[in-house]
Amino acid sequence: MENPTQFVEWLRSVAPYIHAFRGKTFVIAFPGELVMAGALPVLAHDLSLLHALGIKVVIVHGSRPQVEEQLALRKVETRFHQGLRITDAIALECAKEAAGELRLDIEAAFSQGLPNTPMANAAIRVISGNFVVARPMGIIDGVDLEHTGVARKIAFEAIQPILNNGGLVLLSPLGFSPTGEVFNLTMEDVAVAAANALRADKLIFITETPLMTDAGGTEIREVSAHQASAVLASGCLRADASFYFEHATKACKAGVPRAHIVPFSTDGSVLLEVFTHDGVGTMISAQNLESLREASIEDVGGVLRLIEPLETDGTLVKRGRELIEREIDYFSVIEHDGVIFGCAALYPFPAEKMAEMACLTVSPDSQAQGDGERLLNHLENRARAAGFKKLFVLTTRAAHWFLKRGFVNASLDDLPKDRQNMYNWQRKSLVLIKKL
Ligand SMILES: CC(C)(COP(=O)(O)OP(=O)(O)OC[C@H]1O[C@@H](n2cnc3c(N)ncnc32)[C@H](O)[C@@H]1OP(=O)(O)O)[C@@H](O)C(=O)NCCC(=O)NCCS
Repeated sequence: MENPTQFVEWLRSVAPYIHAFRGKTFVIAFPGELVMAGALPVLAHDLSLLHALGIKVVIVHGSRPQVEEQLALRKVETRFHQGLRITDAIALECAKEAAGELRLDIEAAFSQGLPNTPMANAAIRVISGNFVVARPMGIIDGVDLEHTGVARKIAFEAIQPILNNGGLVLLSPLGFSPTGEVFNLTMEDVAVAAANALRADKLIFITETPLMTDAGGTEIREVSAHQASAVLASGCLRADASFYFEHATKACKAGVPRAHIVPFSTDGSVLLEVFTHDGVGTMISAQNLESLREASIEDVGGVLRLIEPLETDGTLVKRGRELIEREIDYFSVIEHDGVIFGCAALYPFPAEKMAEMACLTVSPDSQAQGDGERLLNHLENRARAAGFKKLFVLTTRAAHWFLKRGFVNASLDDLPKDRQNMYNWQRKSLVLIKKL
C-alpha cells in the first residue's frame, strides 16, 4: 500500500456516515442511458458496498433509450404528447422487452463475485415483482395516452420484509392495474412513489446530466425544497435536468428528507455523494440543510464520535459517554445530513455571571468554513440571553483562534472560584475571557 496513513484517515472519516446510514432506506434510480454507457457493472460494485454497510437499497431503472432501440428495430415512429410517450400496443411490447432485458442485465451485474474483485463474497439477491400498482394517465387535451400510466401505489408491505432480510429490490418502470393491464411509467415517477411509500431516507438519481447551474451560472450544490421550487420556476435548467429536479423536489416536499442528483460520468459518484461532506452532485433537502441547534440525548453518539479523536490526542479533556449524556443539555451542535459536524458546550457559573465555553470542535472535514465561528456566535448569544456578562475558555491549542475573535488573555484568578478549584495543572491550559 502506497500510503497506509492516508488510507486509515480516509476510512475513519467515513465512519460517521456508516453509523448514520446503517439500517436506512435509499431508493437509487438511474436511466437506461447509464446501462448504455457501460456503467452498470461499476454501479453494481458501488451499490453492493452500500448494501454491505447495512443500507437498505431499492433500485429503480429507466429504459428510454432501450425502448427507442426496440421501436427503431420495428421501424415504428415514437409518438409524444407534451413530452410524454404515447404508449400504443407496439410501444408497450417494446417497453416490456426493454424492461425484461434490463432486469436480466442488472441481475447479472449483481451476481458478479470473482475473487479479488469488489463483489467477491457479496452474494446479493435482487428481487423484483409486481410491486407497482399503476393507473392510466388517460386522455390529455383530447389525446389518449393509451398504456402510458402513473404509479398509484407501491406494495411497501411486500418490499419491506425483503429489505429487512438483506435482499435488494429492483423496480422497473412498468406498473400493473387491478384490471390486469401493464402500464408504461417513467423511472422518475416510480422512484418518487417508492421513496414516499417506503419512507426512504434518501432518493438518489444517478443521471446523464452534468452538475446543474442556476441562472447566474453558479453550481447548484445544496438547496432546500423551497429554494428548489424557485429554481424550477426560473426556467434555467435544461429539460432533462429539470425533469429530475422536479421529481427530486416532489419527493422532498412529500417528506423524503434528502434527494440527490449525481452524474454517472463521475466514477463512484454515489459513494462520493453519500460519504463526503460536500458530495459531487445536487442535494435537495426537505428542511434547511445545515442546522445549528441545541443538542438532545440522541446526539450523544454523534458528539462522542466527533470529539473522541481530539480527546485521544490531548486537544480536549477526556469526558466519556456518561458525562456527555449527563451534560448534553449544555451542548449546541451543527448537523448536516444527519451527521454531527460541530459542537460546543456552555457551562453556566451564575453567581459570577460568567459562562465557560468548552469542547468547541469542528470536524476536520469541514474546518475553515466558518462553522467554528458560527458555534461561537451562537454560544455568545445563548450566554447573553441567560444574562451572563463574560465568556471564558481554557485552551491548550487554539488560543490564537479565540484571540482573533475578541478574547483576551486572563489569569486563573479571573475565573469563578468553583472553576479555579477544578483547574487541571497538568494541562496548563491558557485562560481567555471575552466581555459580552
Ligand atoms: C478551533 C476550531 C473549532 C475552529 O473551527 P473552524 O470551523 O475551522 O473555524 P472557522 O472556520 O470559524 O475559522 C477558521 C480559521 O481559524 C484558523 N484556525 C483553526 N484552528 C486554529 C487553531 N488551533 N489556532 C489558531 N487558528 C486556528 C484557521 O486557520 C482559519 O483561519 P483563516 O480564516 O485565517 O483561514 C477547529 O479547528 C477545531 O475543532 N479544532 C480542534 C479542537 C480545538 O482545538 N478546540 C478548541 C478547544 S477549547
